[in-house]
Amino acid sequence: MVGSGCFAEESVARSRAAMWQFVMFVEVVGLLESASGRHIQLYAQEPDYFPLDEEFLASFDVIVLKHPAAVDVVSSVTFLFCPFVPWKLMLLFLERGDPSLYIGTNVSELLETMEHVWRAEAAETSGVALTDEIGTGSLDDYRSAARRFLTGRKEYSVPRSDLNVPALHGLKLYWACKPD
Ligand SMILES: C[S@@+](CC[C@H](N)C(=O)[O-])C[C@H]1O[C@@H](n2cnc3c(N)ncnc32)[C@H](O)[C@@H]1O
Repeated sequence: MVGSGCFAEESVARSRAAMWQFVMFVEVVGLLESASGRHIQLYAQEPDYFPLDEEFLASFDVIVLKHPAAVDVVSSVTFLFCPFVPWKLMLLFLERGDPSLYIGTNVSELLETMEHVWRAEAAETSGVALTDEIGTGSLDDYRSAARRFLTGRKEYSVPRSDLNVPALHGLKLYWACKPD
């Protein structure tokens, strides 16, 4: 899980968002473990974690990593959960790791936005500096990374639950399909 936010946050809204997203993460992992019959090692990376957050995660056997270590544990057999992290960071994970299952920000929408709106503003958009991490870090590199990721993947909307949890609204799920 990348960019959960803090569970021990003073803001109730933010800690609740982090907690709901963690619930979803653990639930999906449970489904994958049941379907595969395999134990899945969990990792989390979030620069803002407090010691209490790390203690909480350790109680679920989640290994906490420091940026950029999480990039190296993502591979084509990974379930990557990136709930609303900075878009350049998200694309770095998608490009480098090519995860078979990803839940997070809407990549099609991001690509569309990059293609139609942000060209002029992109250079000034804040986020993690990844200039040397995806090609030259130009808008074209990011667009290509998004296009490559979308190729051969199915996109689904994460359904809204009856509990109406805002922190889960708008999440997309991408599933890598085997070629026919
Ligand atoms: C918009 S917030 C989303 C927080 C939470 N997932 C939510 O939806 O409320 C983006 C999060 O990405 C985290 N983030 C920024 N750089 C990161 C990095 N290099 N690795 C992991 N998380 C990072 C920020 O600390 C922040 O918690």
